[in-house]
Amino acid sequence: MKKKFSIGVIPGDGVGPEVTAEGVRALKTIAEVDGSVDFDFTYYPWGCDYYLKNGIMMDEDGLKKLAVHDAILLGAVGDPRVPDHISLWNLLLKIRKGFDQYINLRPVKLLKGAPCPLTQTDRSQIDMIFVRENSEGEYSGKGRWTGKNTDGEMAVQEDIFTRKGCERVMRYAYMLAREKGKSLTSVTKSNAINYSMVFWDKIFNELKKEFPQVETHSCLVDAAAMYMIKEPERFQVVVTSNLFGDILTDLGAAIAGGMGLAAGANINPEKKYPSMFEPIHGSAPDIAGKNIADPLATIWAVSQMLEHLGLRDWARLLIDIIEEVLYEKQAITPDLGGTAKTSETGERVAEKIRMKFAGGKENALG
Ligand code: IPM
Ligand code: MN
Repeated sequence: MKKKFSIGVIPGDGVGPEVTAEGVRALKTIAEVDGSVDFDFTYYPWGCDYYLKNGIMMDEDGLKKLAVHDAILLGAVGDPRVPDHISLWNLLLKIRKGFDQYINLRPVKLLKGAPCPLTQTDRSQIDMIFVRENSEGEYSGKGRWTGKNTDGEMAVQEDIFTRKGCERVMRYAYMLAREKGKSLTSVTKSNAINYSMVFWDKIFNELKKEFPQVETHSCLVDAAAMYMIKEPERFQVVVTSNLFGDILTDLGAAIAGGMGLAAGANINPEKKYPSMFEPIHGSAPDIAGKNIADPLATIWAVSQMLEHLGLRDWARLLIDIIEEVLYEKQAITPDLGGTAKTSETGERVAEKIRMKFAGGKENALG
């Protein structure tokens, strides 16, 4: 029987529409060659243009509309004409929080053929997966701003770490490390952040008892930034707070091929709500509309989506295809030193999906 998945697509701003088109192309090609799966797509025109026209980033009942889908593909949010804290809190962060997507899974894996500025490093040593807390912490959105425009003006931003919030993201990371037979590193800053991060460390240590098989490490975030460059092999599965995960995964992108390859999955593990998959490069307004943005990050995010939907073989195959495209260098975009258009990279990926499949599903999926 055919498995049919309903996908909500929010192309969003800047290069978002160009790259999501290629993610959708990959999914459509999979459906075309594999008779056992199908996807239908519902597009939502939300984003900064929508805001400038209607005064809202997404419809009031937007979450209700999205809730019916099996997964969401998001392009990018952000436009110089709209303050970032408005556009992001009313669309991207609203969905992450509204759908309790408390896991942000970000691979930092250097595929063959991807550029890497670390010339002294054995390429195979860059193979990490970040589990970023995605619902609270430094992104609680709580605080106050008092005495505006006086000498006593003050802004207080509250980092909120709950036991439930810490335990659930850490358990997820421990289980992932156990399943993959990898070590787990917790990254904090408990030498200086004396309540929340000490609390985080305490919970991380408590949970060790539940996972005696998992080798664990703790690392301060400043040192982690240094070691990711100098000794990246130290890191396998990494669990960290919302803000630290945000920062370290950009650093991770820099050593694993660049932002054009960096993907992220916002996951609600209980599947009570749909999860959302996105490239993490943002809207890149300077190159928007030129058909030169790299769609591979989005296609990698689509692979994460396939994994989440239970189509593991396709998820793996898509990563192999991304690696081949990088390695053969015929259809790569300018960020990777090539001259291909966004759509040409996407077309090459589609071609490879068809080619792999020409020998039958068993061959393709090995
Ligand atoms: C990301 C982005 C977002 C974040 C911004 C745009 C709010 O940088 O997905 O990494 O900080 O989470
Ligand atoms: Mn970021």
